[in-house]
Amino acid sequence: MPLNAAELLVTLVGTDRAPLRIRLANALREAIRSGQVSPGTTLPSTRILAHDLGLSRGVIVDAYAQLASEGFIRSRPGGATTAVWVPAATLPEHWLDHRPAARPNPELDLRPGWPDLSAFPRRAWAGATRDVLRDLPDAELGYCEPWGSAELRRHLADYLRRVRGAMTAPEGVVVVNGVTQGLSLICRMLLRGGDKRLGIEDPSNAVQRRLLVRLGIEPVDIPVDGDGVRVDALAAAGIRVVLCTPAHQFPCGVALSPARREQLLRWAGDVNGLIIEDDYDAEFRYERAPLGCLQGMDPDHVALLGSVSKTLAPALRLGWVLSPPQLLTSLRGLKRDDDFGSNVIAQHVLARLLDSGQYDRHLRGLRRRYRQRRDAFVAAMGRRLPDWEIMGSAGGLHLTVSLPTGMPEGRLVAAAAGRGLAVLGLEAMSGRPVARPGIVVSYARSTPDMCEAAVDRLVRASAELDAVTPEMEAAATGSSILWNDIG
Ligand SMILES: Cc1ncc(COP(=O)(O)O)c(C=O)c1O
Repeated sequence: MPLNAAELLVTLVGTDRAPLRIRLANALREAIRSGQVSPGTTLPSTRILAHDLGLSRGVIVDAYAQLASEGFIRSRPGGATTAVWVPAATLPEHWLDHRPAARPNPELDLRPGWPDLSAFPRRAWAGATRDVLRDLPDAELGYCEPWGSAELRRHLADYLRRVRGAMTAPEGVVVVNGVTQGLSLICRMLLRGGDKRLGIEDPSNAVQRRLLVRLGIEPVDIPVDGDGVRVDALAAAGIRVVLCTPAHQFPCGVALSPARREQLLRWAGDVNGLIIEDDYDAEFRYERAPLGCLQGMDPDHVALLGSVSKTLAPALRLGWVLSPPQLLTSLRGLKRDDDFGSNVIAQHVLARLLDSGQYDRHLRGLRRRYRQRRDAFVAAMGRRLPDWEIMGSAGGLHLTVSLPTGMPEGRLVAAAAGRGLAVLGLEAMSGRPVARPGIVVSYARSTPDMCEAAVDRLVRASAELDAVTPEMEAAATGSSILWNDIG
């Protein structure tokens, strides 16, 4: 098939802002790939095509050279330029089937997990990034220690000792891409050692539950009560490893009581086991200083996992594991094999914020902001829905609301969704039907006015439960778990 200069011209006149030589190469490549220009076709000489298209000859020469280097055309010195056979390729339609379903975008989103992203310290992050780029030695831009830059590990060790009562040295820190990666690496290490069964709190984070199953772990549900995870049930389950959230149980919000802490540490020592301590939002306590972490009391049996997902932004994908010494080498190796290390520039930026005191200052501002939002939400609930019992509001970014006896949780979640309000039901976070239905509500992204409006919608939703169909209920609960729809 001959090359049609007029069609080429139409493509070149389009809205693409790339330089002409690139646009021309793209158009020719597409024509050859789609079969519009068949293999063996002689292309016009650069002089003639330049004349036909009204372009300079240099543009054509460059475009031809580009396509020759990619193998789409062949030019013989002094001879013709011909199109080469390439497998026909068009954008496969079925790729489009792999698009994740559109995420619901409710007017008021009280689902837990996200901090207030508008509080991200853009100016401080930008300033520290500029300083890092100015000062960072070239060598640091290479493949660095996969378990984290020495600079960040030093500052994290200091910070976690100071703020979380951790017991560690920079050597004990493995920098990871968030709690999720830390958990996944530890699980792979456990599986390698033959440990398949892992205790998880019931209820607990639905994303983590599903992650464990996908990794090949058998989660064993351990109930939670007002003192935190039930260690008697853990001991009875005959397992060696547990994942728990001692500082602020997710989602119930209780802190592990002093007696339970002691019991849990004793259990770990007795079975020579491992406590995976998910410290996801421990920085936020409103009535008193944060409780020290368990890791600081028994660094041989506790791996502490934390991240900046709640304090800065989930998008940074930056976190840490404080590893028990006996697991450190395996963990470093797994991190190396997973991704050869986290983004080094971001690590240095975080190290600067920690070093300069800006991170602490940012946290102080956040605590004030979240405390105000929590107070607004709790006050509005007290006024409008006094029979709904609030639990776990002393810290973190969310709380749990127990519903009045007999109120069906799924229908309330769906009725609220119908009013543009997204909340999560407890059932999605549990391995079995919950004893007392409830909803989990984050106030992190809601100004005090929005908290008022959210409670108002809850009031209205609770009066509309009879109108909820099973389809509405399934739709509202199905969309509640982040990225659950991609297999
Ligand atoms: C219980 C729990 N752990 C950890 C995280 C954070 O995970 P990551 O650090 O991978 O962002 C969350 C986020 O919502 C969470 O709810």
